[in-house]
Amino acid sequence: MTKEELFKTFHDIGLVPVVKIDDASKAEKLAKAMIDGGIPCAEVTFRTDAAEEAIKKMTKAYPEMIVGAGTVINAKLAEKAVNAGAKFIVSPGFNPETVEWCLAHNIPVVPGVATPSEIERGLSYGLTVLKFFPSEASGGVAMLKDLSGPFSQVKFMTTGGINVNNLPDYAKAQNVLAIGGSWMVKADLIANDQWDEITRLCKEAVIKLQGIQLVHVGINTPSEKDAFSVAEDFAKLGYETLPGNSSVFMGKDIEIMKSMYLGKNGHLAFKCYDVDRTVYFLKQRGFTVNESTVKYDAKGAMKVAYFNEEIGGFAFHLVK
Ligand code: 3PG
Repeated sequence: MTKEELFKTFHDIGLVPVVKIDDASKAEKLAKAMIDGGIPCAEVTFRTDAAEEAIKKMTKAYPEMIVGAGTVINAKLAEKAVNAGAKFIVSPGFNPETVEWCLAHNIPVVPGVATPSEIERGLSYGLTVLKFFPSEASGGVAMLKDLSGPFSQVKFMTTGGINVNNLPDYAKAQNVLAIGGSWMVKADLIANDQWDEITRLCKEAVIKLQGIQLVHVGINTPSEKDAFSVAEDFAKLGYETLPGNSSVFMGKDIEIMKSMYLGKNGHLAFKCYDVDRTVYFLKQRGFTVNESTVKYDAKGAMKVAYFNEEIGGFAFHLVK
């Protein structure tokens, strides 16, 4: 996997659990619990002696899982982690030695930064994906928003003080590549073999990350005349009639199509924080994108995408 593919996968999965494991014999079970929860990646921190062995065990048992090392505070540790099978290296701060070792060995490295000066340092090494740490204590989403002005080319993996409640704020931030944290895989959950709870917390985070919400219902009718006749009924309920080219909107909630458009009965439109990411999420759940319907914004990110499958006789699409 190239560095670009790795970062694209981080973006799509969107969450990178930060693991502190004391007993490497639990590594496979932990990996399975995360994969079952929809998060096939992890940053295993060198905060315990078990990290190296845990990385080995996880990568051996689940080669498809993206396992990297965290809290890598020097080049020697980076080498140790990579020899154990780590696919990427994360550090809490910016250590030029670690960065240089990783670059020389073609290992994706995500050093920690919390200030503009440190970001500039990262850029001088050609790094445009950096870890924003400690996120909440350093200003959280407000700081990230300010950093997006001068550093529009930088994307952050952000960790430190994030949990299921403030997760949506980070999910909405344009310059966040992926969100990390320990809340899904707390050391005591691992120590007490609470695998089902880890899976539940991962699933909960994955859902929260999407921000899927219904924005309108589209109703098919055979003709313009039929569309306006249906509109009259909705108008009786107090909806404002807003005629368009191919449909009539009733306020924001209902779109009456002037033809038998996509879907047996019509379509459902859902908004989400990031269409590309939610397309990945829905593909994991068996849905397939109707490629001819995909629209992109100026930066190449998906804006609209319909799926080939229907739900209850309704086609559905995502919209940003
Ligand atoms: C890290 O190393 O990224 C942090 O320790 C994770 O922070 P959290 O424990 O507050 O999630």
